[in-house]
Amino acid sequence: METRRLGRTDLDLTTIGLGTWAIGGGDWLFGWGHQDEQEAIDAIVRGVELGINWIDTAAVYGEGRSEELVGRALKRLGPARRPVIATKCGRVFESDGRVVGRLNRDSVLNECDASLTRLAVDCIDLYQIHWPDPARDILEAWETLIELKRQGKVRHIGVSNFNARQLQHLDKLHPVASLQPPYSLLADDVESTLLPYCAENEIGVVAYSPMCKGLLTGQFTRRRAAELDATDHRSRDPKFQDPQLSINLALVEALSQIAKRLGATVAQLAIAWVLRRPEVTSAIVGARRPSQIEETIQGGEIVLDDNHLEAIEGLRVSRRDALAALPAAPQGRV
Ligand SMILES: NC(=O)c1ccc[n+]([C@@H]2O[C@H](COP(=O)([O-])OP(=O)(O)OC[C@H]3O[C@@H](n4cnc5c(N)ncnc54)[C@H](OP(=O)(O)O)[C@@H]3O)[C@@H](O)[C@H]2O)c1
Repeated sequence: METRRLGRTDLDLTTIGLGTWAIGGGDWLFGWGHQDEQEAIDAIVRGVELGINWIDTAAVYGEGRSEELVGRALKRLGPARRPVIATKCGRVFESDGRVVGRLNRDSVLNECDASLTRLAVDCIDLYQIHWPDPARDILEAWETLIELKRQGKVRHIGVSNFNARQLQHLDKLHPVASLQPPYSLLADDVESTLLPYCAENEIGVVAYSPMCKGLLTGQFTRRRAAELDATDHRSRDPKFQDPQLSINLALVEALSQIAKRLGATVAQLAIAWVLRRPEVTSAIVGARRPSQIEETIQGGEIVLDDNHLEAIEGLRVSRRDALAALPAAPQGRV
């Protein structure tokens, strides 16, 4: 599988990374419904067997459950097949189950130790600040990550969901290894500003939700959306509800025609579209069972030519026009 160098680091990441938010299960505010633990571990092991060389997780996913399952998968894989591990700090649970941003030094140090324990590793390869929240403590968190790097508990440090101005501030103190932004056919805000900024400043880009949490797979129907239960946060995501849902599913239907001509699936096409940008080091592809990653990993092999890209661009413009006529959607964060 193709690899790309992550910014100024020595890490060569496969263009598909494995995302493990969903395997955190349904027992928290931003859960994904019931998750079979064995299937989750099997999915991670299968992804690595197929050639994926890095895994993204976060302390907050299922209140540590995702990291624990990653740790169990690493045990099964053994040291010789250990992939690169990326995790995140800065989102913590309050006693009432709310998830809040916390970036003070003590909290970050505690989170890092807890992640090392759950993952059962001596060192985290890429440690990222999950959200720039609260904004006043960003520099304190970054200085703490620098400290953790000096201590040898983490190898490289990066951020997620930060803007260019924030990246610039941090880069003055220590090179930012990577930015993790949302990027997909349904979430393309980073395209005109952040992607070029990262390329100019040699910051790696690991793009999250490339299939927009499953919407861009061709498997997500109106019925499936209606059946999402309260333990799946997508039931509260406006992209999965009308009026946006109809506009999104219309795009997916049109994409499926292009995918068919390519001999690909919509999910593979969506991932290939993200990877067409040279600024993107890798797409973080979520999977909750082996069959999902067996399909999506092939998105890394598909090359889109100018005709495909032009056709897709036309669909994006139509969707944008349809969305522009709607009231602004509320924003959520994890
Ligand atoms: N830094 C951040 O703030 C942030 C935010 C979001 C995500 N991330 C990272 O990025 C990763 C990927 O993003 P994501 O998980 O949000 O979304 P995604 O990769 O766009 O979609 C993943 C979901 O799509 C469905 N799916 C996957 N393969 C499929 C297939 N072959 N056929 C049909 N459905 C399939 C699965 O859900 P169902 O089977 O339930 O439909 C899966 O959980 C996360 O796991 C996480 O590591 C980071």
